[in-house]
Amino acid sequence: MSKLYLLFCAIVLVCYSCDQDTGPLVPVDRSTYIFSDDREGPFYHGVASGDPTQEAVIIWTKATPDHHMAVNVGWKVSDRSDMSNVLYDGQVLTDSSTNYTVKVDVTDLDPGKTYYYQFDAKGQKSPIGRTKTMPRNGAEELSIGAVSCSNFEWGYFNAYERLAERDVDVVVHLGDYIYEYGPGSYGDTTIGRINRPDHEILTLSDYRTRYAQYRWDTDLQRVHQQHPFIAIWDDHEVTNNVYTEGAQNHQEDEGDFQHRKAIAKQVYYEWMPIRENEDQHHYRSFKFGDLASLIMLDERLAGRTKPSDSYEEISDANKMLGSDQLEWFKKELSDGTTTWKIVGNQVIFADLDLSSVYGSKVNLDAWDGYPSEKKEIIQYLTDESIENTVLLTGDTHSSWAFEIENSDDQSVAIEIGTPSITSANSDEHMSTDTVMMAEKVIQMANPHLKYVDLRNHGYTIIDITKNGGLAKWYYINDLRTDSSSEDLAKEVKFENNQIVD
Ligand SMILES: [Fe+2]
Repeated sequence: MSKLYLLFCAIVLVCYSCDQDTGPLVPVDRSTYIFSDDREGPFYHGVASGDPTQEAVIIWTKATPDHHMAVNVGWKVSDRSDMSNVLYDGQVLTDSSTNYTVKVDVTDLDPGKTYYYQFDAKGQKSPIGRTKTMPRNGAEELSIGAVSCSNFEWGYFNAYERLAERDVDVVVHLGDYIYEYGPGSYGDTTIGRINRPDHEILTLSDYRTRYAQYRWDTDLQRVHQQHPFIAIWDDHEVTNNVYTEGAQNHQEDEGDFQHRKAIAKQVYYEWMPIRENEDQHHYRSFKFGDLASLIMLDERLAGRTKPSDSYEEISDANKMLGSDQLEWFKKELSDGTTTWKIVGNQVIFADLDLSSVYGSKVNLDAWDGYPSEKKEIIQYLTDESIENTVLLTGDTHSSWAFEIENSDDQSVAIEIGTPSITSANSDEHMSTDTVMMAEKVIQMANPHLKYVDLRNHGYTIIDITKNGGLAKWYYINDLRTDSSSEDLAKEVKFENNQIVD
């Protein structure tokens, strides 16, 4: 055999192993990943980036082949929007074991800089994504887009599309990125955005299909393409009102709960641009130079115990974070190197007396149902004189601005609640007049509550400087049609643990 022939054989072997599994070609079940055929593959689900640090960022895509085979995906990073000046590039092999998703942790980047990235595979190029690293010390401004609760069936993701156009440094997603229900069981199907698969998601294939459907949405793709995300899960990424050992919406005939939880976590990590850490903790923190820490909590799967069934049964045994995470959280709050502590918090932390308008005195699933850890955190903030703490909260499909008070009525932190992207809020179950009355009654019963809106959908932008912050609520005008109309509805200024305007 000639050397040329051996070289030819070697090249064929390398190319074959790069791009194909051995054995007969098995078609990808297109109904699982592909929702219409007029989009060109393999990058049907766009691009995304996330978990930025000063020198690194995760870039993400999914390269879906026509037939099951390993796919060789190229990636490159540039400092120019037309990708003309490539700074870094590489190759990654993906296959069905990760649902053909690709995550690259791009390192050696410069702080506080905008970068662009693109993938290629199967002779096709992905859309160009934009991302940004965290700045070095001395940064003067931070702008965060805060979002939560996007129910595909209940409305168009207009709010995601509007946020894509805003000039923010990072998007913090506070959870309920997907919902687990079958068609029509949480909301309705009248606008034709019908959940797939056609039943509550339970299996690996089910969860992957639901994410594929959500990420088929061009508004959600657009916000991922434009901004890096720092995301935490809430309950619906697994199932309603989940805790470490079970969930309200998991029944015995739906199989082993721990197996379902493991599947839900696996698929979340496949689809979200999140850095996987050695400790397998979903709670994690980021530094925006010395201006702010972003402390992301896991209030569902790390240490949460089952919520009490009634107000009378609430006890100190109820745990929201668990001891390991609570100690970690305190250390993060005491980090003296950053001016602001911005806390990604799934459920409402502030006291919230709902007795005048709802059946229960408090929301048993929120921090009011977990009083011992809550008291411990408030005491810690008081004892350590920690300044400039802001909790960002999702979950309620409503907008809130609270001062969080200690037993001496001193405000030790503020809490900003972001509304839902689409998920139903109160006036979709009751008349608008009734809900407006409820807003007034809730505010009277809770004097530390400075702003509440139970009627609108949208997102919140939080701008921070050394001296203070401004929270801005943007509400979309159309939920049930594809529209770009929105209003800046409310602004709240805050300084050192107090709302000032
Ligand atoms: Fe939600």
